[in-house]
Amino acid sequence: MTARVLITGADGFVGRHLASFLLKQEGIEVLGLDMRPPRTAAPWDACGFDVCDILDRDSVFSLVARFRPDFVFHLAAQSSVRRSWDDPGLTYEIALDGQVNLFDALREAGLDARVHVACSSEEYGKVKEEGLPIREDHPLLPASPYALSKVIQDFHAVFSYQAYGIETVVTRAFNMIGPGQSPDFVVSDFARQIAEAEAGSREAVMRVGNLEARRDFSDVRDLVGAYWQLVREGKPGEAYNVCSGRDHSIAEVLDLLLDLSDAPIKVEVDPARLRKSDIPVLRGDNGKMRELVGWVPDRPLEDTLRDVLDWWRDEMARD
Ligand code: GDD
Repeated sequence: MTARVLITGADGFVGRHLASFLLKQEGIEVLGLDMRPPRTAAPWDACGFDVCDILDRDSVFSLVARFRPDFVFHLAAQSSVRRSWDDPGLTYEIALDGQVNLFDALREAGLDARVHVACSSEEYGKVKEEGLPIREDHPLLPASPYALSKVIQDFHAVFSYQAYGIETVVTRAFNMIGPGQSPDFVVSDFARQIAEAEAGSREAVMRVGNLEARRDFSDVRDLVGAYWQLVREGKPGEAYNVCSGRDHSIAEVLDLLLDLSDAPIKVEVDPARLRKSDIPVLRGDNGKMRELVGWVPDRPLEDTLRDVLDWWRDEMARD
């Protein structure tokens, strides 16, 4: 029997890795939706893809009714914390209106799909030392418009299970990294700057923001398999932390990346990269996910950083 899997926000960083993973499994038909045509042919040349803005209610309704998914990964979002300060309204609109459109479309079509809702560790906000590592029952104290948008989606997912019986499984992902991520995010940003300096297309000065923050990084390629298990086996109406359980300062990440390059690169703090409010440390407890899926991501950080830097080196060579 074939399982039909719908991915919203499909051409984003996680969606592309997830689709590539699903296409290697037996008996899965994938349809990706995103607001723009795909950036590259793969992986969408091997499955379905439709341009569909999650805020376009009519399009969402007709695509859901036509494809009739058994599983949905709802990834469409404005996912940058920094950008959410510039446009909080759009960040909230995509989060709530987008999710309402999707869930209403599933109800209208009479489908009982299981739905994964991609939420975030940012929802926990500034957690005190005694709250670390953060468990799912820690209070949610959003400290940015992005974090609030994810709390809204998280609550709406639980509400929709209780009110309508939509089988939602929420993941609260900590920092996911890997090849192909937008340079909006720190690892990809730093790796791109190094690759540009190596290629001579910029001066050999890295611009950085807050190096003291600590984050719990995992490789997206480890996590997409867990997502597939979670959407099938997770308890509806529940949230699961998705993380490694270890944290690293941004300064450590920067040093590891610089060690991967021979270019003589200077580092400068750029005040424009410092945020109005930045969470000092996010480190998660992954016990709940481990109990369900039987494993946790354990790829060494250095390996992921090397792959991200190599991805940018290849990009530079293509330009
Ligand atoms: N982007 C960026 N650029 N961040 C920097 C820089 C820089 O030059 N220098 C320091 N940082 C610091 C940020 O201040 C933050 O403390 C940390 O690096 C991580 O920043 P991001 O990579 O932008 O990620 P984030 O932690 O704000 O949010 C990410 O993780 C969340 C889960 O914890 C995103 O992937 C979210 O979508 C995700 O939900």
